[in-house]
Amino acid sequence: MLYIKNLTKKFGSFTAVNNISLEVREGEIFAFLGPNGAGKTTTVKIISGILKPTSGEIFLDSLDVVKNPLESKKYISYIPDEPFVYPYLTAREFLKFISEVYQIPKPEKDINELLDFFSLMPYADNILSSYSHGMRQKLLIASVVLRKPKIMLFDEPTVGLDPLSVKKFKELIKKLTQNGTSIFMCTHILEMAEKISDRVAVLKNGSIAAIGSIDDILSKFKGKDLEDVFLDITNEKEVLY
Ligand SMILES: Nc1ncnc2c1ncn2[C@@H]1O[C@H](COP(=O)(O)OP(=O)(O)OP(=O)(O)O)[C@@H](O)[C@H]1O
Ligand SMILES: [Mg+2]
Repeated sequence: MLYIKNLTKKFGSFTAVNNISLEVREGEIFAFLGPNGAGKTTTVKIISGILKPTSGEIFLDSLDVVKNPLESKKYISYIPDEPFVYPYLTAREFLKFISEVYQIPKPEKDINELLDFFSLMPYADNILSSYSHGMRQKLLIASVVLRKPKIMLFDEPTVGLDPLSVKKFKELIKKLTQNGTSIFMCTHILEMAEKISDRVAVLKNGSIAAIGSIDDILSKFKGKDLEDVFLDITNEKEVLY
């Protein structure tokens, strides 16, 4: 289980993440919602070890993630919203490289299955500078699945994916959770959060404005759908020009 306790991140005098606490349970899909600038990406960057928190604690079971960022990388992987891949490798070389770095034994079968699953097999031996945004995103998702970490952090994972790839991504993460993998996903797609997540948190100006299962949250706003509830919680008033 991933425990986040009283996490705060300041940039100068600006507080981007303000004393948030939550946990992500084993095998859970947790959706992290909130308006632009709410602090979602900052939070996942801290969990992944890219940013240091100003204060607060993060534990994966008994492992102190903030104090042991290298050790944590074995168990926690992060897929950013801007997919970066080495431009002069082919997809197959990239996945082999990842398997070597993370010492995955006999990865060939998994590599082939993943390339096939994401419809990348016809391009497996093309260099990645020729890949489209969606193709790079799918390759990064494949590289993380290959590693089988305990926690997968996704930042807007389906932006730029075609409808079939979105469907496959959803199926894939559901399947991964059956083996105990936990998914923590920043998203603006409320429909996806509603359909596949076990629990959600809504972040507003760096603070958690609501947390729980979708049913729990909706039950406090009788008769409203998730979009209206989200706009209510975050006080986002519609302005029509
Ligand atoms: N390196 C930085 N230096 C200064 N301010 C930053 C830095 N990174 C993020 N911020 C600020 O922190 C706030 C939260 O940013 P963050 O990227 O976490 O938001 P977000 O919830 O991911 O938004 P979006 O939905 O647009 O991706 C924003 O006001 C942003 O300008
Ligand atoms: Mg973001």
